[in-house]
Amino acid sequence: MIGIKVIGLGKSIPTRCVTNNEIASLVDTSDEWIKTRTGIEKRHIAVTETTHELATRSALEALKDSNLEAEALDLVIVATVSADTAMPSTASLVAKAIGANHATCFDLSAACSGFIFASEVAMSLMKQSGYQNALVIGAEVLSSRLDWTDRGTCVIFGDGAGAVIYQISHEENQVLSIEIGTDPQGAELICLPIQTEKNTFFKGEIKRPVISMNGRQVYAFSTSKVPTSIMQVISRGQIKVEDIDWFILHQANSRIIDSVAQRLDVPKERFFKNISEYGNTSAASIPMALYDVKNQLKSGDKVILCGFGAGLTWGTMLLEWH
Ligand code: COA
Repeated sequence: MIGIKVIGLGKSIPTRCVTNNEIASLVDTSDEWIKTRTGIEKRHIAVTETTHELATRSALEALKDSNLEAEALDLVIVATVSADTAMPSTASLVAKAIGANHATCFDLSAACSGFIFASEVAMSLMKQSGYQNALVIGAEVLSSRLDWTDRGTCVIFGDGAGAVIYQISHEENQVLSIEIGTDPQGAELICLPIQTEKNTFFKGEIKRPVISMNGRQVYAFSTSKVPTSIMQVISRGQIKVEDIDWFILHQANSRIIDSVAQRLDVPKERFFKNISEYGNTSAASIPMALYDVKNQLKSGDKVILCGFGAGLTWGTMLLEWH
C-alpha cells in the first residue's frame, strides 16, 4: 500500500491587524454590517511582509513541526493568486530561503480552492513519481490586489500563509478521499486581472489589477456546491456524514459555513471557524484553519477540508487524523 500522512503544519500572518472600524473609516460600511453579514471582526494586512516571506515563515514552522530537514523535501507547491513575481515561482523563492535544494518547485492558481488542488497534485505526484516528502503552502497577500474604495470586496479579504508537509507511508494512510472540480460557466464571477505593461500596439481594454466579485452569485454557488462535494467525498471514503468529527471549510463567510452545516444537518459546533480573526485569506485559509484547530484534533478523528472560490473551483478532502 502507498499511503500519505501529514507530518507537519505551519502558519504565518502579518503583524498589522486591521479592525472593521478602521475599514469603516475608508468606505461606507460599519463594524456591525461586516460582523453580521460575514462574521469578520478583523484581518491581518501585510505592511512590510511579502507573499513569499509569509510562505517561507509557514514552511519553516512546518519543517520544525515535522522534524524534517529542508534537504529532504522533494516537492514544493505554493497555491496562490497573489504571488510577488510570476517568475520565479513563489515555490522557488521559498525553496531557496529554506534550503530545499532537491525539491521540484512550482506555483498553482486555483484561488480559494488552491490548497486542496495543490494537495491533490502533490499526492498524485508522490504516488506516481516516487516523491517522499512534499511541502504544500497556501499563501496570499490579497490586500495588495484590492480596490480599497469597493466596500463589496475590501471588507472581506486578509493576508496570511499556511503550510502542510505530506509524507509517503507504507504503513498508514491519512487521506481517505479527495475530489477537485471546476464550473467554468462561473469563471467571471470573481476576477483578478494581472497587472501588465501593455505593448505599444495593444488596442484592447486595460483592466485594473484588483478583485471584482459578484458576491450574491458566489454565495449561491458556495452554499449549493460545497454540501454536494462534501457528500461525494464522504461516500467515496465509505463513511457517513455523522462520522465526521470536524469540518474545516474555506473561511469565506460565516453564514456560508452555517448554511452548509444546516444543509448537511450537522451541528454547527463541528464546523471550525477562525474567520472573525483573519477574514478570507483565500488559498491560505484551509491550512491556517487546520493549524489553528490541530490541538483540538484527536487521533482517529475524521476531518473534512473543503475549499471553494474563483474559477469557479471547489475541492474537498477527507482526512483521518493521527
Ligand atoms: N457594508 C455595507 N453595506 C454593504 C457592504 C458593506 N461592506 N457591501 C455591500 N453592501 C450593501 C449592498 O450595496 C447592498 O445594498 P442595497 O441592498 O442597497 O443594494 C446590501 O448591502 C446587500 O448586498 P449583498 O451583496 O446582497 O450583500 P450580501 O448579504 O450578499 O453580502 C457578501 C455580501 C459579499 C458578504 C456576500 O455576498 C458573500 O460573502 N458572498 C460570497 C463571497 C465569497 O465568499 N467570496 C469569496 C469566495 S472564495
